[in-house]
Amino acid sequence: MVVKAPAKINLGLAVLKRRSDGYHDLLSIMQQVSLADTLTIEPVRGAGLSFSCSDPSLNGEDNLVCRAAALLAAQTRKALPGVKIDLYKNIPVEAGLGGGSSDAAAALSALNRYWRLDLTAQTLGELGSRLGSDIPFCLQGGTALASGRGEVLQPLPGLSFFWVVLAVPAGLGLSTASVFRALNLEGAPRPPIRRLIAAVQRESREEIVNWLEERHTNSLEAGVVAAYPRLMALKKRMRELGLVPVMSGSGPTFFALTGGARLAGNAVRILRDEGYRAYLCWTERSTR
Ligand code: C5P
Repeated sequence: MVVKAPAKINLGLAVLKRRSDGYHDLLSIMQQVSLADTLTIEPVRGAGLSFSCSDPSLNGEDNLVCRAAALLAAQTRKALPGVKIDLYKNIPVEAGLGGGSSDAAAALSALNRYWRLDLTAQTLGELGSRLGSDIPFCLQGGTALASGRGEVLQPLPGLSFFWVVLAVPAGLGLSTASVFRALNLEGAPRPPIRRLIAAVQRESREEIVNWLEERHTNSLEAGVVAAYPRLMALKKRMRELGLVPVMSGSGPTFFALTGGARLAGNAVRILRDEGYRAYLCWTERSTR
């Protein structure tokens, strides 16, 4: 089996409060995009999992793919056939794009089929949420309103097609935990997500684009940009290229939606020439 594990962006993200379990309640519209990792799943003799990753730094047993496989295997007493999983990474790591979460989601649903476990989508979602807050969304895809710590999902009408420019300074990765730890919640802005929800429900491209031009679209952005001035330069550059840059998740990736293929393509080429990791992809609808 060859399965894709697509990235996600957060069209808006409001952090509401710190919880007693160490997580934060949030409200966010999550959107799947076409940039994707690839998992190749092959039968092997005997039992157990053999795993390898194109990025050697992600090659260990603590990779979310291995943890997803172990969690799934623990759901059954059946002897499970051996499996080899190769993960080819395209999505930047620690970038706010849900790459690791999507790899785990792809492993959960592919192994559920390969091992014929017949677990329901709801059970897979519950298992996924134990491994990471974004995994239930990655299992579902498309466009959704995420609440709780990110694992409570409400479907929204699929966003119509937009080109998506993604850009991140080369070599800059941020752990989600450290970004939340550094957050000064009292001083952080709370973006008006309800208006974005209404725009997505009305399927109004104009209102969505206008909302993304809000001064604050992500409660985590100001703290991250203040800590990494390179991101201020990236934002400025994206604006000069005619884009409206918005931070995804806990960063540091900035994305921009546009209907203009040439504008998006030119921007990606220029950003790459200037040393950024930049990608041209598009919004995806759920295939489930
Ligand atoms: O759920 P996940 O494992 O991806 O989260 C990583 C870390 O990010 C958590 O351990 C927590 O510190 C922080 N986090 C948070 N609130 C959320 C999601 C993540 O504080 N809603």
